[in-house]
Amino acid sequence: MQSMTLSSNYPELSPKYDFYSDIPVTYLAKKYGTPMIAYSMKRLQDNISRLKYAFLNSQIKIHYAVKANYNPYIVSRIIKNSVGIDAANLNEAKLAIQLGSHASDIIATPNNLSGRELLELSKLNIAINFDHEGQMQLIKDSLPETVSFRINPGIGMGEFAGITTAGHNVKFGISPEDAIKAYASARKYGAKRFGIHMMTGSNVLDPEFFKESTERFFSIATKISDSLGIEFSFLDIGGGFGVPYNLYTEPLDIDKTAGYIKDNFLKYRNRGYFKGSDLIIEPGRYIISDAAILISEITSMKNSDHRIIGLDTGMNTMIRIPLYGAHHEIKISGYSDQDYNTIFDVVGQVCENTDYLTHDILLPEAHIGDLAIILNAGAYVSSMASNYNLLGSPAEVAIERGKDKLIRKHSTLDTMLHGFLM
Ligand SMILES: Cc1ncc(COP(=O)(O)O)c(C=O)c1O
Repeated sequence: MQSMTLSSNYPELSPKYDFYSDIPVTYLAKKYGTPMIAYSMKRLQDNISRLKYAFLNSQIKIHYAVKANYNPYIVSRIIKNSVGIDAANLNEAKLAIQLGSHASDIIATPNNLSGRELLELSKLNIAINFDHEGQMQLIKDSLPETVSFRINPGIGMGEFAGITTAGHNVKFGISPEDAIKAYASARKYGAKRFGIHMMTGSNVLDPEFFKESTERFFSIATKISDSLGIEFSFLDIGGGFGVPYNLYTEPLDIDKTAGYIKDNFLKYRNRGYFKGSDLIIEPGRYIISDAAILISEITSMKNSDHRIIGLDTGMNTMIRIPLYGAHHEIKISGYSDQDYNTIFDVVGQVCENTDYLTHDILLPEAHIGDLAIILNAGAYVSSMASNYNLLGSPAEVAIERGKDKLIRKHSTLDTMLHGFLM
């Protein structure tokens, strides 16, 4: 959709990519060093407000999926907006508690935890979306008050196969038939309240998918409810609300999406179901992805089969790119659109030939020392980064009302070696 402008998808970036949230990119790079991630707290706030507004007038609870970004400063700000937490495991739940979340505002959706970890979650009285009955059996004598199971509704959608988490050949969840047995067991073991969960995939931009998947999900929930005579205190439809990863893709129509979900929910309410149930969503990417950029310095330019720009970052930080084949826009700060007329590949510092951040894109005739900007660096970037090759994690800086604040230092050799026997 060529009609979209830069400012619609990335309003915090200036047209020449030289200012972010009104702060010069060169100033940030000089003050904090590259590579660094800069967060726009305004964009974060706007994303939360838009989501809340879209779901207004429904019994909706928003639980932020910490896996998208666990920087405590970011998570704490999200919690201060009265947003609950979706924790993938014990550590994410503990972080949320440390940052002020109440156990009743946290739901854990873990994968293959040990009995010890599940028990700790249960002792904290955190509701658990068990992946399957076997996980619940590990703590059958000490279940949390609210027990929930992750249903595979039979359809999934994600931007890539690696982030499609329902349908066929996925490791997550159980069939509706197995769910009936699992809830019956949970009741036998003394569960007092019940929830039901699905998470069908990530970065979905099509409202119709949310309409179809929630219709299936609510219908499955009514069948379980009818066959066991249980009521659900929550129906958790997961995250997956997508964002554009380039300048021109239309964003998800969140009002339409929320409208479909609310209508489906109300339809079943009018039939007498879910009267006392909360509707839960677990967005991660939607809240934080486009609220950050990664700023990196050009450290080399060379001619090979292709022309190649080398950066002082790489797949250690941008693992989404080789892992899924994900696309992140890369721009060079300070150049105009008409300068983007030479084809380059962009690579990083990692000693692997998978360390391509992009292939064949139009960029300006840049120079060593110029700053590259990688967009959508808020979600699944910092939280998925590694120290492979002993490459450090980027510094992280929050920008708010014209002020910048360091919220994570660069890792150093010492911090990376912490815990090793030397
Ligand atoms: C259980 C669960 N909930 C929520 C999310 C967040 O998804 P997204 O960032 O697409 O909103 C994920 C992501 O994989 C997930 O696995």
